[in-house]
Amino acid sequence: MRVTIAKIQEMKQNGEKIVMLTAYDYSTAKIVDEAGVPLILVGDTLGMVVLGYETTLRVTMEDMLHHTKAVVRGSSQAMVIGDMPFLTYQLGESETLRNAGRFMQEAGCQAVKLEGGVTVAPTVKRIVDSGIPIMGHIGLTPQSIYQLSGHRVQGKTPDTAKRLLDDALALEQAGAFAVVLELVPAPLAKLITSRLKIPTIGIGAGPYCDGQVQVIHDMLGLFTDFVPKHSKQYAKLAVDIKSAVAGYIGEVKSGTFPGPEHGSTIDESLLKGL
Ligand code: KIV
Repeated sequence: MRVTIAKIQEMKQNGEKIVMLTAYDYSTAKIVDEAGVPLILVGDTLGMVVLGYETTLRVTMEDMLHHTKAVVRGSSQAMVIGDMPFLTYQLGESETLRNAGRFMQEAGCQAVKLEGGVTVAPTVKRIVDSGIPIMGHIGLTPQSIYQLSGHRVQGKTPDTAKRLLDDALALEQAGAFAVVLELVPAPLAKLITSRLKIPTIGIGAGPYCDGQVQVIHDMLGLFTDFVPKHSKQYAKLAVDIKSAVAGYIGEVKSGTFPGPEHGSTIDESLLKGL
């Protein structure tokens, strides 16, 4: 049995920190799952870190389903959460339910996530009422990046902080089982966390959230040109991969690879008649 929403709720009650990590493919999901991460998010950051788009806005349902299916195949204990892409939950109830349902029915995930607070709360309620667990996402919501004028910390004034608290409470009221707080000042994240019965999962929101989420490419150091302030590199895989590739190039060119152990042979006299 995979991790359930009851388990996640129990972790909040017990003060046990909740770890969430993104994954976008079978082999990474397998590693993350085997490491014991309880929540795997197939984030629409897929668009940026895997597909090379500048923002998440161009990610489609088909992109998400393709990758979510692979993550579900690669995992067995984690709850897999599919991120609903831009314009898949804004165009009316039946389209929204169909899209949320496709993550469950076609991709095989256990929950979905969408961005927004008070304004999407009725949508969240409809999805929950249809039996689909849903995670909210407030603060910096990347699908509104142009409206927010870039990747800025949110909730820095009394008004905007109050709005974020209202957003979080509206999501809880609508039935969300958890809420991501992205780029929110730590004291505000602490306050929201203390006011909610459901867990908060922070990214750039300080240490007081009930859990943390990171984009796996950031924490593995798969990019060398840009390291977000809110992430920590636990490995430098871009450096390791470049060095492995350079080693491969060098050995192919010098004739050291492949060695006899990497192939097979036969008695060369068998080739005499050819
Ligand atoms: O798409 C994503 O990876 C996310 C996380 C940053 C929370 O939404």
